[in-house]
Amino acid sequence: MRTLITGGTVVNATGPSTMDVLVEDETIAALYAPGFEGVTADRTIDATGKYVIPGGIDVHTHMEMPFGGTFSSDTFETGTTAAAWGGVTTIVDFVVQRTGEVVQEALAQWHTKAGGHCAIDYGFHMILGGVDEDALKAMDQLVDHEGITSFKMFMAYPGVFYSDDGQILRAMQRAANNGALIMMHAENGIAIDVLAAQAVARGDTDPIWHGRTRPSALEGEATNRAIVLAGVAGAPVYFVHMSASEALAAVAAARDSGKNVFAETCPQYLYLTLEDQLGAPGFEGAKWVASPPLRSKHEHHLPDLWKGLRTDDLAVVSTDHCPFCMKDQKELGIGDFTKIPNGIGTLEHRMNLIYQGVVDGKLSLARWVETCSTTPARLFGMYPRKGVIAPGSDADIVVYDPNGHSSLGLAAQHMNLDYSAWEGFEIDGAVDTVLSRGSVVVSDGAFRGRAGHGRFVRRGLSDLLH
Ligand code: URP
Ligand code: ZN
Ligand code: ZN
Repeated sequence: MRTLITGGTVVNATGPSTMDVLVEDETIAALYAPGFEGVTADRTIDATGKYVIPGGIDVHTHMEMPFGGTFSSDTFETGTTAAAWGGVTTIVDFVVQRTGEVVQEALAQWHTKAGGHCAIDYGFHMILGGVDEDALKAMDQLVDHEGITSFKMFMAYPGVFYSDDGQILRAMQRAANNGALIMMHAENGIAIDVLAAQAVARGDTDPIWHGRTRPSALEGEATNRAIVLAGVAGAPVYFVHMSASEALAAVAAARDSGKNVFAETCPQYLYLTLEDQLGAPGFEGAKWVASPPLRSKHEHHLPDLWKGLRTDDLAVVSTDHCPFCMKDQKELGIGDFTKIPNGIGTLEHRMNLIYQGVVDGKLSLARWVETCSTTPARLFGMYPRKGVIAPGSDADIVVYDPNGHSSLGLAAQHMNLDYSAWEGFEIDGAVDTVLSRGSVVVSDGAFRGRAGHGRFVRRGLSDLLH
């Protein structure tokens, strides 16, 4: 099957150019100057007046994740279908290994959960929640044989996923050896637990206390500490879901001194605040309980994060998509914020929300594509198969309409959630058509894909490190 996408502006991380794109079966076959004659196709997609971009890659999702006494509410089927609606053609989800669990068994479980259910392509990172000798050995096996080349560790959540500095150092040493990338949840969880217990004992139990007991200084401290540990191990480090100016300053300083230090942020930290969302009346703020928390609008975090995205101190925008319904899930924390399952659902809206940053003059078009597709592919070993419109790459393509409009909210969303963290947000643009490996999965306002189309992506080592 030959598909020709005509008349659009192709936007890669290198910038925009007017080109027609020929897709043959699952792959991009050629790019042509407009008007080039003699190209035949079975199907033509008219992209006149629209952007033609590499499909979004969200490298931080949690489908069906066991957490906070429940499971995140999107399955691989509902989550990847919502992703397609939002112009995302690849996700990288987190397998969970906890203390005492065998890494390879956890991986087999995730393959069972995802296999045959995904509407778009998917890969896995491994959460190391219990670093022991077996888990360290398993890292090598996953890198060499399973296409899993990144490992998330937690300086937060003592008793759940927390690793101490010795465990972190050992995993980083292993990564220095096998070429893997350590992804760090950098918050000082030991100190946070003291503050949270004190708040609950005082009777300060509303959702806003989730934010007030996780001060940005403790994200900054943990980020600095992890950078030092990575330096001692001689390993690169990637910080997930960065929310705080102090943490960003640590990353910027490390990068300025030539270290292999990278970071992502998420739309919630770019748009939402402690006061306006987490501080909503009554239990409403539970909708936005996630860790790290939304930060104060009276400080400088949000503009600093936008600036970090412009200057590449923040390399990636992911979502940390970890949805929990209000009913029966977030409600577990009524009367005690520490029991509210942590997570926000945003997967479907990332491409739109970051495009709005382009409209608002905060980012260039090229940077939108780079942070949401190209750099995720490069950092996580999928480039140039994914993350670029170029001959030979997978035909994961989004036609994006800058004259379209998207109203975010419960009525229009496809994520399996009984509320929207983005209710009332209006976007000056819209996803028009989505191709996943050459198959149209969204067009004319309808989902045309199917569960099971998505394939597991065996990832290589990071392109930006080797
Ligand atoms: O609140 C969050 N971020 N939930 C998902 C787990 C994690 O730490 O990424
Ligand atoms: Zn985390
Ligand atoms: Zn996460």
